[in-house]
Amino acid sequence: MTETEIKKGLAGVVVDTTAVSKVNPETNSLLYRGYPVQELAATQPFEAVAYLLWHGELPTDSQLAALRAEERAQRALADNVRAAIDLLPLEAHPMDEVRTAVSVIGASDTAGGGSVLDASGSPEQNLARSVHLYAALPAIVAYGQRRRRGQELVPPRDDLDYAANFLWMTFGEEADPVVVDAFNRSMILYAEHSFNASTFTARVITSTLSDLTSAVVGAIGALKGPLHGGANEAVMHIFDEIGSAENVVPWLETALAEKRKIMGFGHRVYKHGDSRVPTMKAALDTLVAHYDRPEVAALYDALEHEFVSRKGIYPNLDYPSGPAYNLIGFDTLTFTPLFIASRVTGWTAHIMEQTASNALIRPLSAYNGPDERHIDGYVPDA
Ligand code: ACO
Repeated sequence: MTETEIKKGLAGVVVDTTAVSKVNPETNSLLYRGYPVQELAATQPFEAVAYLLWHGELPTDSQLAALRAEERAQRALADNVRAAIDLLPLEAHPMDEVRTAVSVIGASDTAGGGSVLDASGSPEQNLARSVHLYAALPAIVAYGQRRRRGQELVPPRDDLDYAANFLWMTFGEEADPVVVDAFNRSMILYAEHSFNASTFTARVITSTLSDLTSAVVGAIGALKGPLHGGANEAVMHIFDEIGSAENVVPWLETALAEKRKIMGFGHRVYKHGDSRVPTMKAALDTLVAHYDRPEVAALYDALEHEFVSRKGIYPNLDYPSGPAYNLIGFDTLTFTPLFIASRVTGWTAHIMEQTASNALIRPLSAYNGPDERHIDGYVPDA
């Protein structure tokens, strides 16, 4: 056996620098380009946070207006993307649907000019492609949910901002401002989180000088897993299984006896609570009051109380966002695609950062297979 110390799961390994965001588990804080995420969620539209992640500064009024105009111009579901989605079975997981749709965009994306064959684009092309994906994703996610429900596509509205238009395209009616605000906050909270598994995947792909869309497609694959983005969907399955607050204790005892992971709890970096949870929990509380669904808050509080007091493991962002998206009316299968629509801003900010200061990401491994051996009867060529 080798003497090399193995950092399984790269736990605790610092692999590079980043100026996009800073996670401090000691203070439970998360900064996007220096700004606390709670302040951004309380004061900014998602569009401004996307701009901040890409450019490093919050936009001026005219910069925000320009980004909004660019986003609105690319909001509608493109015919070739719709055709590709329609080829997929209705039972396909929406994460596969979105991954496929993004792939189709990448194969024909001339945003920012240049050839689609030019894999690692210029900084201008990569920024234009980032804006394109961010603008196109809401229609893809919204259409996916509507298609599964047997509903018609709802075209975008030019008079609505990003969050309100996203809800419009999903539900075909204008959402209450309270709901738009809660949804906008969730989009901001999901946007960026340093070298998480999907972002690191995007950076690995980028480090080979592959193209931006390939990196995003790979990141979507990493996000799908229930230990990462798929947890918001898994949280809702748990809520459905438990049913109501009175069932929490027996349900949890059985789940723990079966050594089940309780989705929406725990985090690789935060061990004393996730910095984003209080903001998302406040948004959930607003939705609970708006829809008059106190039983949702009761189940949430009961499971949190029981699990934290027994295991000392705290909720992560997926815990409040799962029931929040359910209250808004999203299907459970749509939750992780919503995460994509938000996190594409952080992924692409990291892709551009990696491109600007690239080194091929290629770690080492410690071999633990059989010792060298040989094929019986093999005689090497003279
Ligand atoms: N339920 C039950 N036990 C848990 C949980 C949980 N949610 N989280 C951690 N533990 C236990 C583990 O079983 C392990 O116990 P052991 O030492 O007795 O074996 C111990 O806590 C350490 O857990 P690890 O999984 O080794 O810790 P790691 O840092 O690798 O895991 C992770 C972090 C993967 C997020 C884990 O907490 C988990 O699986 N949580 C549930 C999935 C989830 O909610 N993911 C969302 C992440 S946040 C996001 O993507 C927005």
